[in-house]
Amino acid sequence: MALLDKHRTIEKNATLLLVGSLFVVSIGGIVEIAPLFYLENTIEKVDGMRPYSPLELAGRNIYVREGCYVCHSQMIRPFRDEVERYGHYSLAAESMYDHPFQWGSKRTGPDLARVGDRYSNEWHVQHLIEPRSVVPESVMPSYAFLKDKDLDIRNFETHLVANRRVGVPYTDEMIGNAVADIEAQADPNADTSGVEARYPKAKLGDFDGNPNRLTEMDALVAYLQMLGTLVDFTTYDEPDGSR
Ligand code: HEC
Repeated sequence: MALLDKHRTIEKNATLLLVGSLFVVSIGGIVEIAPLFYLENTIEKVDGMRPYSPLELAGRNIYVREGCYVCHSQMIRPFRDEVERYGHYSLAAESMYDHPFQWGSKRTGPDLARVGDRYSNEWHVQHLIEPRSVVPESVMPSYAFLKDKDLDIRNFETHLVANRRVGVPYTDEMIGNAVADIEAQADPNADTSGVEARYPKAKLGDFDGNPNRLTEMDALVAYLQMLGTLVDFTTYDEPDGSR
């Protein structure tokens, strides 16, 4: 019973017990934390992810400003019920350009991580103007005013610069063309070759139903229609090799 006797000494000496506990806990801590300092990157790179187009970024700013994240998450968990309802579970890379991230912590409404392409632009506009006109039991507030507010694009390149400072790889060319790209993406008659080259898969055209005016509604709908559409899951290789 020599071992138990030794343990008795530790248990009877508060200081020794404290030092011993700290020692044991710190081993666990080091094992978890130390590797992070040696890894280049903790996010697996995934084809298709790109920085948001300036119009999408403007829409994202409105999403944050209006507090949509208070009722909506953007993070599909890897559980069967979620994957069947919303689609492929969210990858870390899919929120790598989000500053701050929009995972959310409450779902009063559905998860929006893959809402892009699920509805038409008209549906989104109608739903944002008056949610109950398309979903009678909805408790979502009306955001009709977005259709009457001109999108403020003065000096919009500063938003790209700020995101670049925190790690989003916006190029000088993207920053230089920020305002022009916003206008081109939302204008059905514009030459969109520049936007399309810089931001593959960007949705083009009029979003809010009024091609003559660039509104906050245009930006928000452009953002929603992009969500979850950048990564092509028909060609994505699952880390477990199942595809
Ligand atoms: C008070 C909570 C609340 C807030 C705030 C809120 N929503 Fe919703 N949202 C809901 C609820 C509940 C639903 C489900 C019923 C419906 O479709 O209206 C919903 C549904 C949606 C849908 C349809 C999703 C789907 O898959 O059918 C979209 C898109 C959406 N909201 C976008 C937004 C945006 C953008 C904002 C911010 C401008 C926002 N919501 C703010 C509660 C909210």
